[in-house]
Amino acid sequence: MNIAVLGTQWGDEGKGKIVDMLTPHFSAVARYQGGHNAGHTVYVEGKKFVLHLVPSGILHPGVTCVIGNGVVVDPVALFKELDELAALGIDTSGKLLVSEKAHVILPYHRELDILSEARRGERKIGTTSRGIGPAYEDKVGRRGIRICDVLGDRDALAQEVRENVSARNRIIKDSTLDWRPVYEQLLQHGDRLRPWVGDASLFLARVMQRGGRIMFEGAQATLLDIDHGTYPFVTSSNATVGGICTGLGVPARAIHGVLGVAKAYTTRVGEGPLPTELEGELADRLRESGQEYGASTGRPRRCGWFDAVVVRYSVRINGLDALALTKLDVLDGLPEVRVCTGYVKADGGTLDELPADLRSLASATPVYETLPGWSLPTKGVTTFEALPPEAQRYVRRLEELTGVPCAIVSTGSDRAETIVRPDSAVANWVA
Ligand code: IMP
Repeated sequence: MNIAVLGTQWGDEGKGKIVDMLTPHFSAVARYQGGHNAGHTVYVEGKKFVLHLVPSGILHPGVTCVIGNGVVVDPVALFKELDELAALGIDTSGKLLVSEKAHVILPYHRELDILSEARRGERKIGTTSRGIGPAYEDKVGRRGIRICDVLGDRDALAQEVRENVSARNRIIKDSTLDWRPVYEQLLQHGDRLRPWVGDASLFLARVMQRGGRIMFEGAQATLLDIDHGTYPFVTSSNATVGGICTGLGVPARAIHGVLGVAKAYTTRVGEGPLPTELEGELADRLRESGQEYGASTGRPRRCGWFDAVVVRYSVRINGLDALALTKLDVLDGLPEVRVCTGYVKADGGTLDELPADLRSLASATPVYETLPGWSLPTKGVTTFEALPPEAQRYVRRLEELTGVPCAIVSTGSDRAETIVRPDSAVANWVA
């Protein structure tokens, strides 16, 4: 049984913990999109470590981690991560496979990212400045450079780099970047990358033939998806379930279950509408107690109430079987909690689905349902029945509003601080 674990809101739902916790039940963990814009915090022997590109399965013995063709790879970022893992005593040899078809983030993609943001001015996206967008732009513009190109014929690579650099020089006024140092650096990166590179699709097909199980790990989230997110305030890849087939070369029938990760409230980093956004004391309280600061950039995250319209939309787009509800403990001690069940439009009409037009979303006012809070802590609770009754009621209401069960409820950052509902889909998947 292969499953997908992906984000249902605007990212940072705590996918890392869920993936990490489920990994021992799988033989491969595969990333299908995004790049080192993702940030995923794990603890290794008491030391905090933030993974960006490498799936967290790397920390578990007997698991192969795959970086699929849909991912954009910055070799410098990848080597840094591998070096940091080695310094922590984690053996990565033979445990990582990078698709030969993955596109490379070139050194100047970051510069283009920053420039494009500056040019947008007030309409900036609030990107992570990692060069993700420009790398995907080159990919769809059919001038991108793939890892197999870096490892292949040197003359052909020289020509591709020349063309790519001249496209860049046309974008940046009066720029005359020389392609040769870019080419030389790529060759050096290629030498170090070579042992990790292979055919990811073929590898995964063989894992399945042998009866092995695969976890497809999403980065970012549904509302940041290039097609289904709050465009243009999105990332440049398909973070939704559809990205798995294209980003790894696996058939749709290989995805047997989909687990959506949702925070018990909502956060967003970067620009774009966030209908349930809070300001002032309550926002600060959520931010501090949830440690809502970007794992990649350290930026403070915008915080708001749980938006059931958003998560219901994610359930539909991804065909979610269940939710993993995270950070419930962050709401501990609040006198009341709110859930957005729909929106009222500027003209007074109601909306119970996410509008495609951002202006409508930005001007929509959330309709809230208020539930009693709980004064007893949920922190560290490991069974649903042991949660305070009001917290149980909150979780049940989210299940009703989203239409899917909360199979996992996370009550703290530690792996042990988790409830896995015994009668849930997830319990069957990992049995
Ligand atoms: P980019 O992916 O760096 O181009 O950024 C595009 C948008 O996606 C920005 O709003 C970023 O803040 C957001 N984003 C990208 N990666 C993540 C992530 O891992 N968590 C949350 N937001 C992200």
